Amino acid sequence: MKPKTKTMKRILVIHGPNLDLLGEREPGIYGRLRLEQINSALKKIAKAKKVKLDIVQSSYEGQIVERIIKGRDKYDGLLINPAAYTHTSVAIRDAISGTGIITVEVHLSNIYAREEFRHKSLISPVAKGTVLGFGPKSYTLGLLALIDLLNAR
Ligand code: DQA
Repeated sequence: MKPKTKTMKRILVIHGPNLDLLGEREPGIYGRLRLEQINSALKKIAKAKKVKLDIVQSSYEGQIVERIIKGRDKYDGLLINPAAYTHTSVAIRDAISGTGIITVEVHLSNIYAREEFRHKSLISPVAKGTVLGFGPKSYTLGLLALIDLLNAR
């Protein structure tokens, strides 16, 4: 009997504003790793787990919203670090809830151990889960969790 060919799951990774500065930006909080190094780690996992990844960084809220909306038929899941928009963006939250895309939110830092204005995430209520506080590992743990979620469906 022919083995069933499973279509590869597709995941969109979005890095929000200022994350292109990783490595230079407040290394005491965000570490010394550059965004490309985080992306390489994510691609390695994707290869091993046989999922397709598209990775984008944008500092523009509207662009992030558009990527989510336009990707609604293309992607099975979304891994997102909304960065500063975490705390302000009703638009990104609505794009996630409006498309119903399975979402895992990640943060390098523990936003609850920082300034009070970072304690509220508008994204968490529409995400399946959130991984935060583990530096770049938040991304790799988040991706593994998202792949598990998608494969369980
Ligand atoms: C961040 C936390 C946000 O509060 C901040 O604005 C960021 C990065 C994190 O990954 O820890 O830009 O999302």
